[in-house]
Amino acid sequence: MTSVKFVCPDCSGDVELVSTEQRIQCPGCSKIWQKREGLWHFSDEKYWGEIPEERLKDLMADIESMGLDAAKKSFKEKDEFRYNFMFSPARADWRFGIDIKLTDHVLDAGCGIGAHTFALCDLVEHVTAFDLSTTRAKFVKMRAELEGKNNIDVFQADFIHAPLPKNSFDVIVFNGLLEWIGQDEMFEDPYKVQQWVAKRCYELLKPGGRWYVGIENRWALSYFAGGRDHSGLPYTSLMPRWLSRPYCKWRKNKDYRMYTHGKPGYVKLMKDAGFEKIEVMMTYPGYNYPRILIPFDSIPALHYAIEKLMGNAGWKRKFIKLLSKAPGVLRIYRYFFHSFAIFGIKESKV
Ligand SMILES: C[S@@+](CC[C@H](N)C(=O)[O-])C[C@H]1O[C@@H](n2cnc3c(N)ncnc32)[C@H](O)[C@@H]1O
Ligand SMILES: [Zn+2]
Repeated sequence: MTSVKFVCPDCSGDVELVSTEQRIQCPGCSKIWQKREGLWHFSDEKYWGEIPEERLKDLMADIESMGLDAAKKSFKEKDEFRYNFMFSPARADWRFGIDIKLTDHVLDAGCGIGAHTFALCDLVEHVTAFDLSTTRAKFVKMRAELEGKNNIDVFQADFIHAPLPKNSFDVIVFNGLLEWIGQDEMFEDPYKVQQWVAKRCYELLKPGGRWYVGIENRWALSYFAGGRDHSGLPYTSLMPRWLSRPYCKWRKNKDYRMYTHGKPGYVKLMKDAGFEKIEVMMTYPGYNYPRILIPFDSIPALHYAIEKLMGNAGWKRKFIKLLSKAPGVLRIYRYFFHSFAIFGIKESKV
């Protein structure tokens, strides 16, 4: 029997989740949570993401019938791109940009299918992982059990109502989450939701803790060339919000709440939340495969990455290579880089 300390999201009272219990009641406000099929549930659930829910359920059924290794192999044969997205530890290469310690407790928020959870669990003491989607959280739990990773805790929750204790994490992972978090309508303005979330991350971290955000740049060059934004439409990230919101309602019958920012915008969000130190890296080839982290302030490193590491295929690359030859251009270009790995560092105690 194991027990995990949580905090009631309604009354902030201490709650102990005991692994053998199926139901727990907050001693402070009497709120009840249920465990279903071995998984604690803390909020309404929703599924979306890179792999359709039915495909993930099929994979889980294959794992049950043929075992993890055989199911992984068969999945890889059918869809190598998605396989790597789900299983490659390279998804979390940003981890080399910070000093991760064996004693660290990591929170993988919006863990999805657990690529970051599994890439980190052997390097740290404990990983707490949760996702809005029950199916995704179940998959992470299933894989952790089959691989014998006893230092992973998994539950289903949305970040806003996740029952997490303050001052308890060394690293909080937000890979591809900050832009979606504004979907929660706790405030009419999605930016206010992001501000609330940034403050919450600050208070959840221990002093010295780091908030990692992997995310697109609102001003990425590809968006100017018509690349689709999180809305599914081109140009919406570039529009002022007063225009993107009604525009998406008109085109998609859906509010635009998936805010991304430019480098100064992310820095401001973190600074306003209290983070004392912020490090911004450009990610190559992208934040979902951050094989190379280029410090935002290092023009020579950016020049080297473009000249020596970037391929020549496609007009965008050729254009960037050409641009990079002109003096001063890279100073401007970095503001239009496609994606960032951002580390907010909490130095003091709250
Ligand atoms: C783009 S995916 C990224 C998944 C994972 N972090 C990765 O990098 O592979 C975003 C994930 O965030 C989850 N999510 C979205 N909003 C959430 C919220 N408010 N609380 C918890 N998870 C959320 C989604 O279910 C989805 O799995
Ligand atoms: Zn309570």
